[in-house]
Amino acid sequence: MVGGAAAAADGNGNGNGIGKDGGSINPTPTRLPLSMKLLRPLLLVAVLATVFLGVFALLLGGSAYSVLPRFFLPDALSAPSSSRQRAQQPCAGDGKAPLQRWTRAPASPSAWHNMTEEELLWAASWRPAIGKYPYRRVPKVAFLFLTAGPLHLAPLWEKFFAGAGSRTELYSIYVHATPGYSGPKKFPRSSPFHRRHVPSKVVQWGEPTMFDAERRLLANALLDPANDRFVLVSESCIPLFNFTVVYDYLTGSSHSFVNAFDDPGPGGLGRYNGALAPEVTPEQWRKGSQWFELARDLAVTVVADERYYPKFREHCRPGCYVDEHYLPTVLTAVAPARIANRSVTWTDWSRGGAHPATFGEGDIDEAFLTRLTTEVDQKTCEYNGQPSQVCFLFARKFAPNTLKPLLKLAPKFLGYG
Ligand SMILES: *[C@@H]1O[C@H](CO)[C@@H](O)[C@H](O)[C@H]1NC(C)=O
Ligand SMILES: *[C@@H]1O[C@H](CO)[C@@H](O)[C@H](O)[C@H]1NC(C)=O
Ligand SMILES: *[C@@H]1O[C@H](CO)[C@@H](O)[C@H](O)[C@H]1NC(C)=O
Repeated sequence: MVGGAAAAADGNGNGNGIGKDGGSINPTPTRLPLSMKLLRPLLLVAVLATVFLGVFALLLGGSAYSVLPRFFLPDALSAPSSSRQRAQQPCAGDGKAPLQRWTRAPASPSAWHNMTEEELLWAASWRPAIGKYPYRRVPKVAFLFLTAGPLHLAPLWEKFFAGAGSRTELYSIYVHATPGYSGPKKFPRSSPFHRRHVPSKVVQWGEPTMFDAERRLLANALLDPANDRFVLVSESCIPLFNFTVVYDYLTGSSHSFVNAFDDPGPGGLGRYNGALAPEVTPEQWRKGSQWFELARDLAVTVVADERYYPKFREHCRPGCYVDEHYLPTVLTAVAPARIANRSVTWTDWSRGGAHPATFGEGDIDEAFLTRLTTEVDQKTCEYNGQPSQVCFLFARKFAPNTLKPLLKLAPKFLGYG
């Protein structure tokens, strides 16, 4: 309620401001020709002054050249009296306030906010229609931690993130945990997990609430315009390579890593529900791993989806699993060329059943980590259309008691720590 009221008040304030501005820059029609006549000699003076000062500046040398774009010629052309005053004080603000919404880092280092879910998704759904950024933009990788509670392996991840060195602007962290779980609040200021939990809701395994949480994580991360790639991980995931390798791999990829395949069996097409038609046909039905990585524009597509998601929420209920079908199906339908059809998170399904294998303390040794980083399913994929040595950047599932051996072996076998 508090957040809602604040946002509404903000909206009204903005609206009034725009209205007033609009009044003052739109002169009445009868006055326009007169002011244009007055403007002409002024313009001439402006042009001459600009040319003169330009030549003067060039004579003075390159350093003075930077003042040129601040002259008031464009303002004088587009607006009468009031803007002339503004133009005469070129140093009063840089006039780029609207752009700062995109260029500025969020004011608070905390990921917490008071927005309602509806407000959050709306705020996250904005997307520039021009692809090229008009400023130097350093892409950030957003790590989205979907957790039940404690982040037992956080000390390992902290070593991994330390690999970014002083370049903390290269990544951001968002943690979704069971509501009321206070663990994330306990991370000290020195930890990259400090104050990185987002407003969360209860998640039930296999239910649509699972993907609701994934959308919530995406939406929170989209609020930072520098976030460019969004990777979902869990409390049982570990990074298989150092930060540089992971960052370069994700930001350099021309595809998003979403696993999608056509499974005609009972665990695939067998879960298709006719009520999903006509939006989703049986031919479009795909299956894939929950553990996605998305480019920014596809992340916006997901949080802003009003066409497919409501249908999935209603008609894909256990034994249909939204988190295994929604992304593969919808992205194959709307952006097939954008996804690699594979995940960068390795999971061991070889033991069969509804849950993948969980590795414990006893499984962690040099041979196992060597196998994960150089053998099991690495070297069997394409990256940007070329055969690649590295296919998986993360692996799961690792039990809490693997922390100690992992911390010990990570420097030598995983390249961090
Ligand atoms: C959210 O609301 C609470 C209670 O009104 C307030 O104490 C807190 O500062 C607010 N947090 C943010 C991030 O605005
Ligand atoms: C990260 O790992 C790669 C590949 O092993 C290595 O070439 C690079 O030097 C490492 N970078 C850092 C900062 O440790
Ligand atoms: C992924 O599969 C779709 C068809 O479902 C195909 O159009 C696309 O090219 C594939 N992506 C890659 C990287 O091969």
